[in-house]
Amino acid sequence: MGVIAVVNQKGGVGKTTVTLGLAAAAGAAGRRVLVVDLDPQANATTGLGVFGADRTVDHALEGEQPGALRAVVQRSGWDAPEGWAPVDLAASSPRLAQREHQLALDVIGAQDRLAVALEGLVDDYDEVVIDCPPSLGLLTVNALFAADRVLIVAEPAAWSADGVEQILRNIGRIAERRGGRPEVAGIVVNRLGRTRDAAYWDDQLRQLHPELVVEPSVRLRAAVAEAAAQSTPVHALTRDGAAAAAAEFDQLAGMLGIVERSADPAGGTSDPSGATVEADGDPSPDTMMPADAAAPIATIAPTAPASPIAHAPSSTGDL
Ligand SMILES: Nc1ncnc2c1ncn2[C@@H]1O[C@H](COP(=O)(O)OP(=O)(O)O)[C@@H](O)[C@H]1O
Ligand SMILES: [Mg+2]
Repeated sequence: MGVIAVVNQKGGVGKTTVTLGLAAAAGAAGRRVLVVDLDPQANATTGLGVFGADRTVDHALEGEQPGALRAVVQRSGWDAPEGWAPVDLAASSPRLAQREHQLALDVIGAQDRLAVALEGLVDDYDEVVIDCPPSLGLLTVNALFAADRVLIVAEPAAWSADGVEQILRNIGRIAERRGGRPEVAGIVVNRLGRTRDAAYWDDQLRQLHPELVVEPSVRLRAAVAEAAAQSTPVHALTRDGAAAAAAEFDQLAGMLGIVERSADPAGGTSDPSGATVEADGDPSPDTMMPADAAAPIATIAPTAPASPIAHAPSSTGDL
C-alpha cells in the first residue's frame, strides 16, 4: 500500500506508458490499483479507455477537502479478463491546466492539495500510481507531496541525465520538508532501442546512478505504443512483442513491490522471454518500432561529453 509518482519534466519519455504498464501488471496479478492522471493532456485517461469523464481530478483539487478524490474515482474502461482486479482511475481533463494556475494563487495550500484529496483512499488500494505532467510545476509538486515514492522514467537519449539531476534535486528539497518522503524508488529506462546511441545514453545513466537505475529497462516495442493507442492493457494484446513487453512490466512491478516478485499473472504473461528479454529483445523486426529499427547505428555524437552531469542545467528550473 502506498503512493508512487511517475515523473520526468520531459514529455514523451514514457511516464504514461510506464504508468499503464504497471497498472496492467497489477491488474493481471489481482492487485488493486488506482491510477491518478495528473496530466492535463489526459493520456493515461484515454489509455485506460475513459473519454470525456464528467468527474475528474480537477474537481477534487478545487477545494481542500480531505478525501475529495474518492468522489471522482471511476472504473477504467479496460475489460478485466478473468482473474484480473479491475483498475480504477481518477481521470484528468484539460481543465487541470487552469487549475495549476489557480493553485499558484493559494499561498498556503498550493503544494499539498492532492495529498489532502487522497486522504483515506490509499488504504483501499495495493498501490496508487500518479502519472505526472511533463513539467516540474505545481501539479508535479502536488504529486511529490502526495507520494511515498517516486519512479523517474528516463529515455536513453541525449542529456536525459541532466533532466534526472534536476528532478532528483527537487525531490531532495521536498523530502527535506517531508521527513524523508518521497523516496526515490528508482530510474527506469524506457524506449530502449538497439542503436548504439541508445546504448551510450543508457550507459551514461547507469554510470551516474548505478544505485538508482532499476531492472528491467522497458524496450522500444510497437506493441507498447499500440496498447496505449487501443486503450488496451499490453497484457491483453496478442501481437508480436506484447508478451515480452508485458513480462517486462510484470518484472518492473515486482521489483517495485507492486506485485509479488514471483508473480505469474493470469493471462499467460509468464513468457519465459521475461527473464532474458533484455538480452536481445524480440526476434521479429516487426516488434520494434520502425523508426528505431531504421535508425543509423552510429549516430552517437562523438562530441558527447563523458559526463553529461558536468553540463547540468542552471538552477532556474528548480523549485
Ligand atoms: N517502450 C515503448 N515502446 C514503444 N513506444 C513507446 C514506449 N514508451 C513510450 N512509447 C510511445 O512514446 C510516446 C510517448 O510516451 P508517453 O508514455 O506518452 O510519454 P510521457 O507520458 O512521458 O509524455 C507514446 O506515443 C508512446 O506510445
Ligand atoms: Mg504522459
